[in-house]
Order: sequence, then structure tokens, then C-alpha cells
Amino acid sequence: MTRVLVVGSINMDLVVETQTFPRLGETLLGERFATYPGGKGANQAVAAARLGAAVTLIGCVGNDAFGAQLKAGLAAQGIDTRWIREAATAATGIAAITLCQADNAIVVVPGANQLLGPADLDAAEAAFASCDVVLAQLEVPLATVQHAAALASKHGKPFILNPAPASALPAALLDQITLLTPNEYELAVALGEPDAEWQTLLAALPGGVVMTKGAGGAYFSDADGTIQHQPGFKVTPVDTTGAGDTFNGALAAFWHLGLAEAAWRASAAGALSVTKAGAQGGMPRLTELDAFLRDGLQHAASTRS
Ligand code: RIB
Repeated sequence: MTRVLVVGSINMDLVVETQTFPRLGETLLGERFATYPGGKGANQAVAAARLGAAVTLIGCVGNDAFGAQLKAGLAAQGIDTRWIREAATAATGIAAITLCQADNAIVVVPGANQLLGPADLDAAEAAFASCDVVLAQLEVPLATVQHAAALASKHGKPFILNPAPASALPAALLDQITLLTPNEYELAVALGEPDAEWQTLLAALPGGVVMTKGAGGAYFSDADGTIQHQPGFKVTPVDTTGAGDTFNGALAAFWHLGLAEAAWRASAAGALSVTKAGAQGGMPRLTELDAFLRDGLQHAASTRS
């Protein structure tokens, strides 16, 4: 069982479903409203836990109803929540999500996620020492992410960074990342290379980056810089929120299998995740993922590299 340490955000997702995205200045009548647990850190932690990893999440919520609900929900998934702080001075983070034809537009108000600081990680240093892999995103302060990378390095642990939302990364942080997992836009922004072809950027980071392309699957450069493609799996999408998070959580859970095998399983997990509502709703359990991968049709749709 892989021991995954996640450092990241915890949000309540406030989801409005519409037939079209509203135009500037327009008032639309929506179809439905629902709240779902979310936040990139929490989503990735749940994805890894559902796939059999032993997961610890370091994060920060407000001392409010959303915070209590989210923390209890994470514990119910079997996640170690002892390092999730309840801050008195900020509200739990929320994401206002407009869901339209399975696609989405998201505004995040980070709230307590912005209070997660290096001192929170120092308090949880034992978790860095005892994990197999550390996974982080960019919905908590960059200084905290940098400290997570430094602690992972201090304890000799691989550090996976999902650079979302997109942000330029300092060279010192890039040096400490074992695996970067951007989409195409995030790759260019993270590396400060807005005009470069993604193929060039991938080839320059042998074994160090997996780039996701939504339904198009994932691309990564192997140890000698050759670009490999893991095609996407065909499913009927209901809600694409959290597909990237599922991919990342799965990648960490299957880290011990090597990059190509982990990317194959993570692509399948990401595909399954979009078949149900809510960021975490469709995240598969290990048995569901295994059954999906055993299905001959799905195997045929995927030309594994
Ligand atoms: O990646 C999806 C997540 O982004 C949502 O759950 C939302 O909370 C935002 O953080």
C-alpha cells in the first residue's frame, strides 16, 4: 500500500447547473444547485485513498460548518486528517462552479487555505518522514508548496507537483520537483515559456513531467526524453470537475508501478471520475478501476505505450 502525503486545499464546491454559460451582465435561470466536497488537495487525497493508498492530508479549514463537514467527510474516506488545522480567522475555502454540458467555469475563494503555512508542515514533519510520496498543488501559498518540496527532499521522498491553478514556478522549486503534472497551458506558464511547443518542453524534462490533455489522455517523456502518449478512455461525461485531480491522486497511489503503468491507470481513473456528478462523486474504488481496465473494449480503445 503506497503511503501518500497530500499538502493542499480543501473547499466546499457550490455548483450551479445551467444550459448555457452566462454572458457578461446576463442573469440566467439555473437548472440545479448542489454542494459537493472539493478543493484540489482534498480531491487528490480522496482519489488516492479510494484506490487503496494510505493517505494523510495537510490542510486548513475554517472553524465553521463547511470545515467540520469537509473534515468529517475526509476522515470517513479513511484519510488521516490529524494535520488539518481549523483556523479561527478565515472561512473554509469555497469554489463557485458553473456546470454546463459537463464542462465548467470555476471561481475559487481560498479562505483558510491561504493560512496553510510552512509552520503547519513543520508540525507534521513526521508525516513527511513516514510517507512514500508527497503530492501538492497550487491552491495554497507558494511558500508552503516550496517548504513541502524542501521537506520531501530532506526526507528523500519523491515530490509530485500538480501546478494548478497555473502559476510561474521559481527555479529553486522546479529543481526539487520529481514529477510535474500540468495541462498544456499550465506547463507553459509553470516553466515561463509561453511561446514554446509543449513537445519541446516535455522532451527537455525526461521522466520529469506528465502533461494531461483532457479526453486526449496524457503525454510524458520517458527517461531518454522520448515522448510517450497514454490515450484517453472513452466515457460519457456528466461532470468533468476533478478529472485532473483524480489523475493526480491515482498517479501518486500507483507511483510504485513506474510512470507508464501509473499513467495508464491514472488515465482510466480520470475517465471514470467524470461519469458522476461532483469532483469526488465519480472517483473509482480500486475494484471499479480494475473491472474497467479488464473490460476488453476499454483495452482496445487504449493503445498502451
Ligand atoms: O480541480 C477541481 C477543484 O478545483 C474543485 O473541486 C474546486 O474546489 C477547485 O479547487
